[in-house]
Amino acid sequence: MVIAIDGYSSTGKSSLAKKLASQYGFLYIDTGAMYRMVALKVLREGWINSKKEISDDLLERNLPLLNIDFKRTSDGKNFALLDGEVVETDIRTMEINDIVSKISSLTIVRSQLVAQQQKMAIGKDLVMDGRDIGTVVFPNADLKIFMQADADIRANRRLLELRSNGNFNVSLEEVKANLIQRDNDDQARSDSPLQKASDAVVLDNSEKSAEEVFKLVSSWVLEKINT
Ligand code: DC
Repeated sequence: MVIAIDGYSSTGKSSLAKKLASQYGFLYIDTGAMYRMVALKVLREGWINSKKEISDDLLERNLPLLNIDFKRTSDGKNFALLDGEVVETDIRTMEINDIVSKISSLTIVRSQLVAQQQKMAIGKDLVMDGRDIGTVVFPNADLKIFMQADADIRANRRLLELRSNGNFNVSLEEVKANLIQRDNDDQARSDSPLQKASDAVVLDNSEKSAEEVFKLVSSWVLEKINT
């Protein structure tokens, strides 16, 4: 069984995906973290300049050598692993937020990560979240959910996440502007843009608690399991 969760930034996709994976014993794959790991590598190695121009040549040569993976603990926690190093906190900074949409618009990056995502899923029940899961990665997913929420609510959620990771010198306005910019970039790119799959269920969680969202989606999952 494959559950595909797509939608705008900070709509609670990963929180929902993690809960579903833990409830039903499914594998969870955070594809946003995979794009963030590529962005971190690009930043660390200086393959991007101050005008956000990326060295395609360096990226093309080095991308196949990157080791992008997840470390999973026995209590169900997931940690992004880049070349064997846990980078869970390093990939969730404003610096990464600023360049990740640019990185994820590149076809050489997308084709490598999509192939890896499809491979990770072979023979497994899983829940995967991202922007193109129901449209490109798993067009035949059993359940497709498209998440959206009010931009102010999303910005507040992302700010809390940044603060909990120790990033205090960022304002709510900056976070909101970045979210909107990333959503626009993700929708406007030519390769696998963010869009609702025609057979996805839209879930707006502006007015819903995480618990309510989980209960609702759980009822859809159980319906699929029992048919
Ligand atoms: O979900 P997130 O905010 O961690 O994702 C980071 C960025 O990666 C986001 O701006 C869009 C991009 N992304 C993508 O293009 N395709 C995916 N499947 C997942 C994320």
